Amino acid sequence: MERIRLGVIGAGLMGMKHIELVHACGICSLAGISDVDPSRKALADAFGVSFYRTAEELIDGEQPTGVIIATPNAQHAAIAEVCAKRSVHMLIEKPIADTLAQAMRIVDIANQSGIRVLVGHHRRHSPLIRKTRELVGGGAIGKLIGVSVLWALMKPDAYFDVEWRRQRHVGGPLLINLIHDLDSLRFICGEIKEVYARASSAVRGFDVEDSLSISIAFDNGAIGSVLASDATPAAWSYEAAVGENPLYFRTEENCYHFLGTSASLAFPRMELWRYADANRKGWQHPMERSQIAVGEADPLKVQLEHFCRVVRGEDEPVVNARDGAETLAVALAVQRSASKGIPIDPSELLTGIEG
Ligand SMILES: NC(=O)c1ccc[n+]([C@@H]2O[C@H](COP(=O)([O-])OP(=O)(O)OC[C@H]3O[C@@H](n4cnc5c(N)ncnc54)[C@H](O)[C@@H]3O)[C@@H](O)[C@H]2O)c1
Repeated sequence: MERIRLGVIGAGLMGMKHIELVHACGICSLAGISDVDPSRKALADAFGVSFYRTAEELIDGEQPTGVIIATPNAQHAAIAEVCAKRSVHMLIEKPIADTLAQAMRIVDIANQSGIRVLVGHHRRHSPLIRKTRELVGGGAIGKLIGVSVLWALMKPDAYFDVEWRRQRHVGGPLLINLIHDLDSLRFICGEIKEVYARASSAVRGFDVEDSLSISIAFDNGAIGSVLASDATPAAWSYEAAVGENPLYFRTEENCYHFLGTSASLAFPRMELWRYADANRKGWQHPMERSQIAVGEADPLKVQLEHFCRVVRGEDEPVVNARDGAETLAVALAVQRSASKGIPIDPSELLTGIEG
C-alpha cells in the first residue's frame, strides 16, 4: 500500500517528536516541514525534506494527504482553516485551541468540510489507559464509586525563565499538564458534569497557579478528586509514574486510584484489590492483590498509526474535534471555578459558545 504523505506544521519541541515518528513509520512518510522560525530549516535538511515558512506554502508545494499541527495553541484554528480549504486531513496537537470559541471554529470547519480531524490527546492510545478504561467500564471493579488523582512533582526553576509559563490562564499545571489527566478521566470514567476547584500560587508567588485541587462529579454518579502541585518533591504524577517521556525521572508509583463496589484499581501498576472470598467482605477480612499485565507501546506512535487509518477512512478519530473541545471545556471550567469560587458545569461553557 502506498505510504501516506504527511507534513508537519510547527517544528518545535512536539513537532520534532512527530517528525521523528513520521520519518520512522512504515505506513506514512514525511512530505515536508513548515515553521515561521527560519532556524528550523536545519531540521528539514537533516530529514532530507523541503522547508516552508507557512502552512499554505507547505501544502501547495508538497500536496500532503494529511498534516500534523504542532504550533502554539492560538494558531491551531487559523491553520486548520488553511488545511480544510485545501482538503488536507489533520492531527491537531492538544489542546485543540486556546479558547472555546476557537475550538468550536475547528469543530465547524471539520463538520462543514468533511475533513477528518484527530486531536492529539495521545494518552488515549496508551495501552495502560486503554486497559484501565476496559476494566473500569467493563465492570471489573463493580460500579465505579470514585477516582482519586495525584499529580505532584517539581518543575525545575529554569522552566519559569520563560515569561508565558508564569502567566495565569496561559501557563500552569492545569492547561499544560492536567488537561491530559482530565481527558483520561473523561475517557475512563465518563462525562464530567461539574467541577469545583481551588488554586494556589503560595509556593512561588507567580501569577500562575502552582497547586490546585478539583472536586469532580461525573454524569454516572461517580465522584472524583484531583490534587496537583508542580512545586513539591513528590513521586506521584502520571509522567513520573508511567515513564513515557524519558525527560522525567521514572518512579513507577501509583498516581490514580479507582474505587468500585467490588474491587479497586491502582494505576499504573495495575494492582487490583478485592476480598479473597467475595462472600466475606468487611475491613476484618483478608484482601488479595493481583496485578494485571499490560503490554508496552509508545502512545504517540500508536496515535500516528491511528491517524493514518483515519486519513484512509478506516478508523473514526478516537478524539474528534468536538471531543477535543469538550476536554478543553472541562479544563476551562476548572479555571473559572477556581477564579469565581463556585462549581461549574463544563457543558454550560460550550453552550455559551454555541449560542
Ligand atoms: N501531547 C503532548 O504531550 C504535548 C506536549 C507538549 C506540547 N504539546 C502541544 O504541542 C503544540 C506545540 O507545543 P511545543 O511545546 O512544541 O511548542 P514550541 O514553542 O516548542 O514549538 C512551536 C513551533 O511552532 C512554530 N510556529 C509558530 N507559529 C507557527 C505558524 N503559524 N506556522 C508554522 N509554525 C509556527 C514555532 O516557531 C515553534 O517552532 C502545542 O499545541 C502544545 O500544547 C503537546
